[in-house]
Amino acid sequence: MSQNFSGNESNPLSSIEDWEDDLLDRYPEPKTETKTKDEYRNYEDSERVDGVREFYRLNHTYQTYDFVLEKEKEFLKFDKKEMSLWEAVDFLNTLVDDSDPDTDLDQLQHLLQTSEAIRADGHPDWFVLTGFLHDMGKVLCLFGEPQWAVVGDTFPVGCKHSDKIVYPEFFQANPDSTNPKYNTKYGVYEENCGLENVKMSWGHDEYLYQIMKNYLPEPALYMIRYHSFYPQHRENAYDHLMSKHDHEMFKWVDKFNPYDLYSKVPVPPDAKALRPYYEDLVAKYLPATLKF
Ligand SMILES: [Fe+2]
Ligand SMILES: [Fe+2]
Repeated sequence: MSQNFSGNESNPLSSIEDWEDDLLDRYPEPKTETKTKDEYRNYEDSERVDGVREFYRLNHTYQTYDFVLEKEKEFLKFDKKEMSLWEAVDFLNTLVDDSDPDTDLDQLQHLLQTSEAIRADGHPDWFVLTGFLHDMGKVLCLFGEPQWAVVGDTFPVGCKHSDKIVYPEFFQANPDSTNPKYNTKYGVYEENCGLENVKMSWGHDEYLYQIMKNYLPEPALYMIRYHSFYPQHRENAYDHLMSKHDHEMFKWVDKFNPYDLYSKVPVPPDAKALRPYYEDLVAKYLPATLKF
């Protein structure tokens, strides 16, 4: 049974993949010989554009510093579900949206396409594993969270919203924008304090990072935690909060991003055939069950 998370006021995207499709509009793949932008998406989809706009209106209005604290309290207890990674993959796969005409790719296929592209380029196995799990945090949708609290570009909360964030005008409705504690360049932070001291808007990145933080090498954790932080990894809007170490680690985030964004291929990977390889890989790094 697939679950539909579309078509109501709090979930304006017809599918959470509409956010990723919108990213491809904003950050099209640098021209390659084999693929053009049009192969990925349909330009005329104005309904999607409207949905994405409304999605960001909600996201920018409600992602406040206090909201993030509240979600940390709620989800970092990890008392929702205990699953093996494979059960989590199956669980996530119930998040297929039948109403989306653009894609019949389910979540597992996006994960496998990302990880297989990483593997094909000969990267270390933990990098492949990172590709395979990077979006598992989207199970938040299945715990009843609205789209705007699961996906979308992430950004620091507790300091001024950069105008390089997509749809910056929607931050006018965010109460933090008029709170002097939070609306200055540094807000509650200090210059170059390092991202480990910075709270990001709540979503699937931070949630999965918190689940994985004891199991994967640091570059993998940066990729997971900041893969939706487009305002930094594409726009460099928050250099003033980053440490030297963050910049070093963001080389990995940059390396990961094209695999996430541009690895959609028309022929879906053979999940069944690939399963033994990924079972070994998962067993090498992760415990038998994980707490969500
Ligand atoms: Fe993601
Ligand atoms: Fe992804």
